[in-house]
Amino acid sequence: MAAGGRTPAEILPAAEPRARDTRLDAWVDRYAARTHQMTASAIRALFAVANRPEVVSLAGGMPNIADLPLDVVGDALHKLVLTNGTQAMQYGSGQGEPMLRQQICEVMRLEGIDADPDDVTVTVGSQQGLDLITRIFCDPGDVVLAEAPSYVGALGVFRGYQCDVVHVGMDDGSPGGSGGLSPQALREALVSLQATRRRVKFLYTIPNFHNPAGVTQDLQRRRELLAVAEEFDLMVVEDNPYGLLGFDAAPLPALRALNSERVIYLGSFSKTFAPGFRIGWVLAPHAVKDKLVLAQESAVLCPPVFSQFAVSSYLSAHDWQGQIKVFSELYRERRDAMLTGLSDHLPASTTWTRPAGGFFVWVRLPAGVDSQAMLPRAVGARVAYVPGTAFYSDGFGSAYMRLSYCFPTPERIREGTRRLGEVIAHELDLAELFGTTPAVGGRNVTPGPSANQS
Ligand SMILES: Cc1ncc(COP(=O)(O)O)c(C=O)c1O
Repeated sequence: MAAGGRTPAEILPAAEPRARDTRLDAWVDRYAARTHQMTASAIRALFAVANRPEVVSLAGGMPNIADLPLDVVGDALHKLVLTNGTQAMQYGSGQGEPMLRQQICEVMRLEGIDADPDDVTVTVGSQQGLDLITRIFCDPGDVVLAEAPSYVGALGVFRGYQCDVVHVGMDDGSPGGSGGLSPQALREALVSLQATRRRVKFLYTIPNFHNPAGVTQDLQRRRELLAVAEEFDLMVVEDNPYGLLGFDAAPLPALRALNSERVIYLGSFSKTFAPGFRIGWVLAPHAVKDKLVLAQESAVLCPPVFSQFAVSSYLSAHDWQGQIKVFSELYRERRDAMLTGLSDHLPASTTWTRPAGGFFVWVRLPAGVDSQAMLPRAVGARVAYVPGTAFYSDGFGSAYMRLSYCFPTPERIREGTRRLGEVIAHELDLAELFGTTPAVGGRNVTPGPSANQS
């Protein structure tokens, strides 16, 4: 339960009130219509509190870069400035530096992608890739299909371009079953959108170690999804920041490896190297690439040249594949700590997914427990998570929460799950006492992974 039944505001000293907070925004009637739906994410509001050291945050998705060889990175950067500093600190190409694009193709080969560096556009993280793709394809009111649930940062981009997100159900990948986006649900969504003559611009999907659901599409399912895409002439945007961070098996072929005509692929160095350089990329069919580069030039002129040289030097100077194995081992240990902690501490009617890589576990709460309503009490009990509602465009998801195991140590994860177990048990007591109706329901579609008990 929340420490002594108190709310976070009662436990933690209040922040100094700022004069500006009390003023109305003088420009409120001048903002473009596309800003009207821009709202702070659920986690943002509590972030200042959740980041305090006494709170175990299972909320943020920050990669753990403490194991990076900083001496190697430091040496490479030092050498870069001395030998190539004037080029590295100059403006560069809107498409990105040729040497890095070549190296990016080597990285993608690990997932079976055979790509021409000329089809790669370097971006400011894959987040900017998402922005550019949406910018060049979507008009207000266009439909974008996305998994239910989906990556909160992508939903923010789609909202920003006034797209209408239609969620497509997923499966949990429980033993004997496939996981990830359901080809059948995709087909049904396309048929029903066709009947209403809605314009679908693309499907946005995360096939590996999904954020937030933690599930992975198997090879058979990838083929089925692409067959549906072929049948309905659907473009697929494949977002793959976690694909190389698997715990058990070699990476599966990317969707782009199975179809180079209708898949646009997004990659990133944020999770396999470091997010601070802000280097990601888009691999797209040639004509799309030309449009992306034009959009990129108008957005930022060129992606950060120094960062590109830095990533390129790291890839040349260091055993980056060995480093990815080090990261994967670290995350595997943390995943195990989380799954054990959940088994030990969560009430029996709670279920969750078992990720085989990446950062996230998706938890389904017992009936009657609302993750959004519970969050302030959880933070009061010094544990934080992201409520499931952040990952849907339509307010659904209150019966779910995302837990991340990437950043806290295994000990902190165990303690975090213990605190979470207490908070949920307390919520259940309250639900029983007041006869609260179950939080699940209210929408008659597949709600996302139903999650399997560990
Ligand atoms: C699924 C997914 N896509 C894209 C991003 C953005 O990554 P970046 O812009 O750092 O490459 C993230 C970050 O967490 C993510 O989880």
